[in-house]
Amino acid sequence: MIYGIAKGTDFEKLCDGAAKAEAAGVMTYYALARMAREQGYPEEVSQTFMEMANQEAVHAGFYATLIGKYNADIWKFAESFAAGEENGEKQVGQFAQAFRAAGMNEAADEMEIFAKQEGHHGSTLRAMIEKYRK
Ligand SMILES: [Fe+2]
Ligand SMILES: [Fe+2]
Repeated sequence: MIYGIAKGTDFEKLCDGAAKAEAAGVMTYYALARMAREQGYPEEVSQTFMEMANQEAVHAGFYATLIGKYNADIWKFAESFAAGEENGEKQVGQFAQAFRAAGMNEAADEMEIFAKQEGHHGSTLRAMIEKYRK
């Protein structure tokens, strides 16, 4: 068990900084993966960046857990996130429409997929709450 063990210790600040740096790394590596693909490098290049990004995501969650960054009641959290995800579907959908109106169709196509994914995150959270919340 590692939840909260670094909370209130000399390590808390370092862990929080590490969590944020790792999360930023996720964004950076996924962007590099994307850019490598657009620039015509072999698929292996972007796959490797994505693999690194996924590991950074795990690292970010690890440090956040060490300091108990989020309340231990995961279903309460899921509940509040479900609404945000469902809202996200609408918001990202509108964002996509605005991109399309501005002629950025390639991006808009993908953002429409993201919008549906946000909605799916919402329904997935609700289903898990229903199934596992005690
Ligand atoms: Fe890392
Ligand atoms: Fe989401």
